Amino acid sequence: MADFAQELFARTLVEPYRTKVVEKLRLPDRAEREALLREAFYSPAYLNASDVYVDLVTDSGSGAMSDQQWAGLMRGDEAYVRSRSFLAFEEAVRDVMGFAHVIPTHQGRAAENIVMELLLKPGDIVLCNTHFDTTKAHVEHRQATALDLVGDWLWNFAEPLPFKGNFDLAKLELALELHHARVPMIIITVLNNFACSSPVSMENIRAVRSLAQRYGIPVFFDACRFAENAYFIKKREHGYESKSIQDIVREMLSYGDGCWMSAKKDAIVNVGGFICTRDEGFARRCQEKLVLYEGFYTYGGLARRDLEAIAIGIREGIEEDYLAHRTGLVAYLGEAMESSGIVVSKPVGGSGVFVDVEALYPQLSPEKMPGIALFTDLYLEGGVRAGAAPFSMKTISIETRQIQEKVFQFARFAVPRRVYSKAHMDFVAQVMARVKQGAKHNRGFRVTEHPPVLGHFFSKFEPL
Ligand code: F0G
Repeated sequence: MADFAQELFARTLVEPYRTKVVEKLRLPDRAEREALLREAFYSPAYLNASDVYVDLVTDSGSGAMSDQQWAGLMRGDEAYVRSRSFLAFEEAVRDVMGFAHVIPTHQGRAAENIVMELLLKPGDIVLCNTHFDTTKAHVEHRQATALDLVGDWLWNFAEPLPFKGNFDLAKLELALELHHARVPMIIITVLNNFACSSPVSMENIRAVRSLAQRYGIPVFFDACRFAENAYFIKKREHGYESKSIQDIVREMLSYGDGCWMSAKKDAIVNVGGFICTRDEGFARRCQEKLVLYEGFYTYGGLARRDLEAIAIGIREGIEEDYLAHRTGLVAYLGEAMESSGIVVSKPVGGSGVFVDVEALYPQLSPEKMPGIALFTDLYLEGGVRAGAAPFSMKTISIETRQIQEKVFQFARFAVPRRVYSKAHMDFVAQVMARVKQGAKHNRGFRVTEHPPVLGHFFSKFEPL
């Protein structure tokens, strides 16, 4: 017999958890918001979190831990060498991800630093569907080139393709044909927030693996949103409807030689990361670097209680009712924005909603900072913070067979895990509807200060 309660549960986006601790939020009034924006130089990076009502600037390390994770923190065994918490972490990550060797790091980019130092040399070319900005920065730090081989479909927000994070296999084949001798690894980012959080299909992953094998090139996953990717495979790819998330994760990662992960995303912790590999020799070399940069191989720059929280969170992160609710809530926000005429990347992906900023502010050329226009309108109208920036990537052109620069501009409404309710999403959507109404009056911004280092974080602006 049909189960009414289960059907209702799935349909209404009712939370698969209840609240045990609350954190008070403040919504400053309009005059205050105007002053706060001025004091923050109209930049998301200078606005204090305590002045933001709904903060969608990142889904990284901003999630709410469960009662079990908080209890795990108390149980944390702070021994330096092979503590109980390290062993629990190692077992959980091995079990969920399916790799024999697990090396803890304090977050994702620390893992990237070690892997890149071991595998890259100057002049190399790293191939990826889309590098996250820290990944790209680590590649370039080694005087190598980061090529993003996602398809041009990513630029078409309105076209509803189920796996917009896929490699364009024609681009990958061409890049390998021309440059294979300089390619030390292929990275598959499973759910990149810089690629509208769109997933990569199992079919695409398999095809990448087989191309890599043809040239004898190792494949690594940037796995920070592996669980969301697996959930979309289950929901969107033929043949996976009745598989468990755990089985899909195992199959997905079986096509890699290793992975690294920022545990701050799908392991639902506030800090942490790791590297996984099947190769004992490579694991030892990672551990050597770990001792230099992060700490002993049984804690990797973390308190042992943090490892305990990852051990619990990585299992909670693949629970299907949690993933259904999380992705459902993000999709709910995307659909609500769309109903007021805002162009969002479709179908909505994992970590957040991605808005076409150029479509919202057609009167603003890139020099007039349409991303900052959206950030300020959003905060002014609703006390909401989201990130918006153009980012440039290098790709390969099928026509000219040359490496070319391409810019992708979007605003990201990244939804922290288990933090905000459907009512918060309604609030944000209504604020965005009002932003859209007034968007045509925005005259844009100019840069008043752009430091030579990390300018994209520390620039200051002024309205035109
Ligand atoms: N890879 C991806 C795909 C990421 O999204 C991030 C971080 C990292 C690697 C680096 O991990 O922050 O733990 O060092 N993304 C955050 C974000 C910062 O806001 O999306 P980290």
